[in-house]
Amino acid sequence: MIIKGKNYRTVWMEGKVVRMINQPLLPHRFEIVDLYDTIEVHDSIKNMIVRGAPAIGATAAYAMAQAALKYDGSDLAELKKDLRAAYDFLSKARPTAQDLFDGLDYVYNVIVSDRSIDKIKKKAIDLAEDYAENSIEACEKIGEYGSTLIKDGFRILTHCNAGALATVDYGTALAPIRTAHYAGKKIFVYADETRPRSQGSRLTAFELVSEGIPHAIIADNAAGYFMKRKEIDMVIVGSDRTAMNGDVCNKIGTYEKALLAYENKIPFYVAIPLTTIDRNCPNGEAIPIEERSDEEVLYAYGWNDSGKFERVRIAPEKSRGRNPAFDVTPAKYVTGLITPKGIIKANKKEIERLL
Ligand code: MRU
Repeated sequence: MIIKGKNYRTVWMEGKVVRMINQPLLPHRFEIVDLYDTIEVHDSIKNMIVRGAPAIGATAAYAMAQAALKYDGSDLAELKKDLRAAYDFLSKARPTAQDLFDGLDYVYNVIVSDRSIDKIKKKAIDLAEDYAENSIEACEKIGEYGSTLIKDGFRILTHCNAGALATVDYGTALAPIRTAHYAGKKIFVYADETRPRSQGSRLTAFELVSEGIPHAIIADNAAGYFMKRKEIDMVIVGSDRTAMNGDVCNKIGTYEKALLAYENKIPFYVAIPLTTIDRNCPNGEAIPIEERSDEEVLYAYGWNDSGKFERVRIAPEKSRGRNPAFDVTPAKYVTGLITPKGIIKANKKEIERLL
């Protein structure tokens, strides 16, 4: 993605350092964070410095490579013990996005059987880079297929941020939107603000501004109003984990958008790289849902008019909150899954064929 005239990825690696865009500072400040070890990378995922399923997956792959590269001893068994410890620790960073486990496995499962320390290091970094490249390629394909659904003049609703910042580059739900825009189609995007972390108003809007795509940020509870007035032609969202029966788990609030779309006969598409599909998950009931600190609900933060960062409480001192980060949308509300291999129905038969 182009930011301030320079091409960036959301996460990448230089030497033994994992580098990433500091997402909580956006859209007000653009900074890169450097992470030097497994603990720092784990915390960056947990605290959502990097977020979005495919971006988390690539970060995990780089973290495994970093753990291998940082080993400076000569004991193969010790290196393998370090790698296993890094794998276990990183896999606890966040529970819902399947890509976290996919990224870890992509590197770990190959290097763990090697018998040379040098080869493990070389393979680890090659695999992590490979993972990031594959992720970008998949997003571009999603863009190509998904854009065929977008007609000139379409008004599209999206929830959360499933753009370049949620991936290594290009995005999943925003990929068809980008591709349609590049093809000269006149489109308009409604971006749900996506409380409590506001990925829609902070990140999706940031990307849409950068691309010059006409849009409006709407309050989370406004989508029904626009759908009923026939001001939304389609919905495209991402997925953090896709079950084998086509149920999709995405940012909290996605489920109610799907119900609204269904009621108003508006197509509801979910853009997914194959890395979000959990082969061991029969349906959405089996997906672990992260519940985050209630502080995210009870406080808001941003930049005040004097350009200073401020966190303000927006609820009574004595109130507590609940903060599930994701919900499951049953497959029956999903018009189709936009994948890097084409658009399919959200059901077991088509997902199995795809895999
Ligand atoms: O909590 P987040 O910001 O990591 O949640 C992100 C989402 O829910 C995205 O929609 C999802 O990861 C798909 S991203 C391409």
